[in-house]
Amino acid sequence: MFNLPNLPYAYDALEPTMSAKTLHLHHDKHHAAYVKALNEILSEASQPAASLEDVIRHSAGGGSGAAKLFNNAAQTWNHAFFWEAMSPKTAGPGADLQAAIQSSFGGLAQFREAFIKEGVAHFGSGWVWLVAEGGKLSVKATHDAHDTVTERAVSPLIVCDLWEHAYYLDYQNDRKAYLEAWFDALPNWAFAASQLAAANGNGLPWYFAAPTATAKAA
Ligand code: FE2
Repeated sequence: MFNLPNLPYAYDALEPTMSAKTLHLHHDKHHAAYVKALNEILSEASQPAASLEDVIRHSAGGGSGAAKLFNNAAQTWNHAFFWEAMSPKTAGPGADLQAAIQSSFGGLAQFREAFIKEGVAHFGSGWVWLVAEGGKLSVKATHDAHDTVTERAVSPLIVCDLWEHAYYLDYQNDRKAYLEAWFDALPNWAFAASQLAAANGNGLPWYFAAPTATAKAA
Protein backbone atom coordinates (compact mmCIF):
# COMPACT_ATOMS: atom_id res chain seq x y z
CA MET A 1 0.00 0.00 0.00
CA PHE A 2 1.03 3.58 -0.56
CA ASN A 3 1.59 5.83 2.43
CA LEU A 4 0.62 9.44 2.90
CA PRO A 5 3.96 11.27 3.06
CA ASN A 6 4.51 13.70 5.90
CA LEU A 7 4.88 17.35 5.00
CA PRO A 8 8.58 18.20 4.67
CA TYR A 9 8.06 21.20 7.03
CA ALA A 10 5.81 22.26 9.89
CA TYR A 11 2.17 23.09 9.16
CA ASP A 12 2.73 26.75 9.99
CA ALA A 13 6.06 27.02 8.12
CA LEU A 14 4.54 28.51 4.97
CA GLU A 15 2.60 31.25 6.74
CA PRO A 16 1.47 33.85 5.95
CA THR A 17 1.44 32.83 2.27
CA MET A 18 -0.23 29.49 3.01
CA SER A 19 -1.90 29.12 6.40
CA ALA A 20 -1.55 26.19 8.79
CA LYS A 21 -5.30 25.74 8.55
CA THR A 22 -5.09 25.34 4.77
CA LEU A 23 -2.18 22.90 5.05
CA HIS A 24 -3.95 20.82 7.71
CA LEU A 25 -7.05 20.47 5.54
CA HIS A 26 -5.11 20.08 2.31
CA HIS A 27 -2.70 17.45 3.57
CA ASP A 28 -4.63 15.69 6.35
CA LYS A 29 -8.01 15.61 4.59
CA HIS A 30 -7.66 16.06 0.81
CA HIS A 31 -4.33 14.34 0.22
CA ALA A 32 -5.11 11.65 2.80
CA ALA A 33 -8.45 10.95 1.08
CA TYR A 34 -6.73 10.40 -2.27
CA VAL A 35 -4.24 7.98 -0.71
CA LYS A 36 -7.02 6.10 1.11
CA ALA A 37 -9.14 5.77 -2.03
CA LEU A 38 -6.08 4.67 -4.03
CA ASN A 39 -5.26 1.92 -1.54
CA GLU A 40 -8.86 0.73 -1.44
CA ILE A 41 -8.95 0.34 -5.21
CA LEU A 42 -5.54 -1.35 -5.30
CA SER A 43 -6.52 -3.77 -2.53
CA GLU A 44 -8.85 -5.41 -5.05
CA ALA A 45 -6.10 -5.84 -7.65
CA SER A 46 -4.61 -9.27 -8.23
CA GLN A 47 -1.02 -8.05 -8.22
CA PRO A 48 0.68 -5.52 -5.93
CA ALA A 49 1.71 -2.24 -7.55
CA ALA A 50 5.44 -1.77 -8.15
CA SER A 51 5.41 2.02 -8.03
CA LEU A 52 2.93 4.86 -8.02
CA GLU A 53 4.35 6.07 -11.32
CA ASP A 54 3.52 2.67 -12.85
CA VAL A 55 -0.04 2.82 -11.51
CA ILE A 56 -0.51 6.27 -13.05
CA ARG A 57 0.91 5.25 -16.43
CA HIS A 58 -1.09 2.01 -16.59
CA SER A 59 -4.40 3.57 -15.59
CA ALA A 60 -4.10 6.70 -17.75
CA GLY A 61 -6.47 6.65 -20.67
CA GLY A 62 -7.81 3.27 -19.57
CA GLY A 63 -11.50 4.11 -19.89
CA SER A 64 -14.11 4.74 -17.24
CA GLY A 65 -13.12 1.68 -15.22
CA ALA A 66 -9.62 3.03 -14.71
CA ALA A 67 -10.56 6.68 -14.25
CA LYS A 68 -11.08 6.42 -10.49
CA LEU A 69 -7.76 4.66 -10.06
CA PHE A 70 -5.95 7.18 -12.27
CA ASN A 71 -7.51 10.18 -10.51
CA ASN A 72 -6.60 9.00 -7.03
CA ALA A 73 -3.14 7.76 -8.01
CA ALA A 74 -2.27 10.97 -9.85
CA GLN A 75 -3.62 13.19 -7.09
CA THR A 76 -1.60 11.19 -4.55
CA TRP A 77 1.53 11.82 -6.66
CA ASN A 78 0.76 15.45 -7.49
CA HIS A 79 0.25 16.50 -3.89
CA ALA A 80 3.44 14.78 -2.70
CA PHE A 81 5.32 16.57 -5.49
CA PHE A 82 3.61 19.86 -4.57
CA TRP A 83 4.75 19.62 -0.92
CA GLU A 84 8.34 19.09 -2.11
CA ALA A 85 8.06 21.94 -4.59
CA MET A 86 7.54 24.43 -1.75
CA SER A 87 9.97 25.63 0.89
CA PRO A 88 9.73 28.00 3.84
CA LYS A 89 13.13 29.37 2.85
CA THR A 90 12.92 30.24 -0.80
CA ALA A 91 16.21 31.65 -2.05
CA GLY A 92 15.65 32.25 -5.75
CA PRO A 93 16.87 30.04 -8.58
CA GLY A 94 20.55 29.08 -8.57
CA ALA A 95 22.90 29.69 -11.50
CA ASP A 96 21.98 26.71 -13.71
CA LEU A 97 18.24 27.14 -13.27
CA GLN A 98 18.53 30.89 -13.71
CA ALA A 99 20.39 30.35 -17.00
CA ALA A 100 17.70 27.93 -18.22
CA ILE A 101 14.94 30.39 -17.25
CA GLN A 102 16.82 33.18 -19.00
CA SER A 103 17.22 31.20 -22.19
CA SER A 104 13.64 29.88 -22.28
CA PHE A 105 11.64 32.86 -21.03
CA GLY A 106 14.00 35.84 -21.31
CA GLY A 107 14.26 36.24 -17.54
CA LEU A 108 12.71 35.45 -14.17
CA ALA A 109 10.19 38.29 -14.44
CA GLN A 110 8.93 36.96 -17.78
CA PHE A 111 8.73 33.43 -16.40
CA ARG A 112 6.82 34.70 -13.34
CA GLU A 113 4.35 36.51 -15.60
CA ALA A 114 3.85 33.44 -17.82
CA PHE A 115 3.37 31.10 -14.84
CA ILE A 116 0.81 33.34 -13.13
CA LYS A 117 -1.00 34.06 -16.41
CA GLU A 118 -1.32 30.36 -17.19
CA GLY A 119 -2.60 29.62 -13.68
CA VAL A 120 -5.14 32.44 -13.69
CA ALA A 121 -6.42 31.53 -17.17
CA HIS A 122 -6.79 27.83 -16.38
CA PHE A 123 -10.48 26.95 -16.26
CA GLY A 124 -11.52 24.95 -13.22
CA SER A 125 -9.36 22.63 -11.15
CA GLY A 126 -5.85 21.56 -12.06
CA TRP A 127 -2.18 22.30 -11.74
CA VAL A 128 0.33 24.74 -13.25
CA TRP A 129 3.84 23.40 -13.81
CA LEU A 130 7.29 24.54 -14.81
CA VAL A 131 8.58 21.71 -16.98
CA ALA A 132 11.70 20.81 -18.93
CA GLU A 133 11.23 19.21 -22.31
CA GLY A 134 13.72 18.82 -25.13
CA GLY A 135 16.27 21.07 -23.45
CA LYS A 136 13.82 23.93 -22.95
CA LEU A 137 11.69 25.08 -20.04
CA SER A 138 8.03 25.92 -20.42
CA VAL A 139 4.87 26.52 -18.40
CA LYS A 140 2.12 23.97 -18.69
CA ALA A 141 -1.28 23.58 -17.03
CA THR A 142 -3.07 20.27 -16.57
CA HIS A 143 -6.70 19.61 -15.74
CA ASP A 144 -8.02 17.94 -12.60
CA ALA A 145 -5.70 15.07 -11.63
CA HIS A 146 -3.63 15.10 -14.80
CA ASP A 147 0.12 15.50 -14.54
CA THR A 148 3.25 14.87 -16.58
CA VAL A 149 4.01 11.35 -15.31
CA THR A 150 2.48 9.90 -18.46
CA GLU A 151 4.74 12.04 -20.67
CA ARG A 152 8.18 10.50 -20.44
CA ALA A 153 9.87 13.35 -22.31
CA VAL A 154 8.53 15.93 -19.86
CA SER A 155 10.24 16.58 -16.51
CA PRO A 156 8.33 18.61 -13.92
CA LEU A 157 10.42 21.11 -11.93
CA ILE A 158 7.82 22.81 -9.75
CA VAL A 159 4.04 22.87 -9.53
CA CYS A 160 1.31 24.99 -7.98
CA ASP A 161 -2.06 23.51 -7.03
CA LEU A 162 -4.94 25.36 -8.72
CA TRP A 163 -7.75 23.49 -6.98
CA GLU A 164 -9.86 25.82 -4.86
CA HIS A 165 -9.07 23.76 -1.76
CA ALA A 166 -5.45 24.99 -2.11
CA TYR A 167 -6.26 28.68 -1.71
CA TYR A 168 -9.88 29.41 -0.88
CA LEU A 169 -9.42 29.73 2.89
CA ASP A 170 -6.53 32.16 2.45
CA TYR A 171 -7.45 34.05 -0.74
CA GLN A 172 -11.13 33.20 -1.34
CA ASN A 173 -11.84 33.59 -5.07
CA ASP A 174 -8.65 35.57 -5.81
CA ARG A 175 -6.54 32.96 -7.58
CA LYS A 176 -4.26 35.65 -9.01
CA ALA A 177 -3.35 36.95 -5.54
CA TYR A 178 -2.67 33.37 -4.46
CA LEU A 179 -0.42 32.68 -7.44
CA GLU A 180 1.50 35.94 -7.04
CA ALA A 181 2.08 35.39 -3.33
CA TRP A 182 2.94 31.73 -3.94
CA PHE A 183 5.45 32.50 -6.66
CA ASP A 184 7.23 35.16 -4.61
CA ALA A 185 7.48 33.20 -1.37
CA LEU A 186 7.16 29.44 -1.72
CA PRO A 187 8.81 27.76 -4.74
CA ASN A 188 11.55 25.37 -3.71
CA TRP A 189 14.15 26.44 -6.27
CA ALA A 190 16.71 23.95 -4.96
CA PHE A 191 14.24 21.15 -5.66
CA ALA A 192 13.53 22.59 -9.13
CA ALA A 193 17.28 22.73 -9.82
CA SER A 194 17.72 19.11 -8.81
CA GLN A 195 14.82 18.10 -11.07
CA LEU A 196 16.40 20.03 -13.93
CA ALA A 197 19.77 18.36 -13.31
CA ALA A 198 18.03 14.96 -13.41
CA ALA A 199 16.31 15.90 -16.67
CA ASN A 200 19.79 16.64 -18.03
CA GLY A 201 21.10 13.25 -16.93
CA ASN A 202 22.65 14.26 -13.62
CA GLY A 203 21.07 12.31 -10.77
CA LEU A 204 17.59 10.91 -10.37
CA PRO A 205 14.31 12.81 -10.46
CA TRP A 206 11.97 12.84 -7.48
CA TYR A 207 9.68 9.84 -7.29
CA PHE A 208 6.93 8.77 -4.91
CA ALA A 209 8.02 6.41 -2.13
CA ALA A 210 7.59 2.74 -3.01
CA PRO A 211 4.58 0.91 -1.56
CA THR A 212 4.93 -1.01 1.68
CA ALA A 213 3.26 -4.26 2.77
CA THR A 214 1.45 -2.49 5.59
CA ALA A 215 0.76 1.12 6.49
CA LYS A 216 3.67 3.00 8.01
CA ALA A 217 2.94 4.61 11.34
CA ALA A 218 2.51 8.35 10.90
FE1 FE2 B 1 -4.79 19.94 -3.73
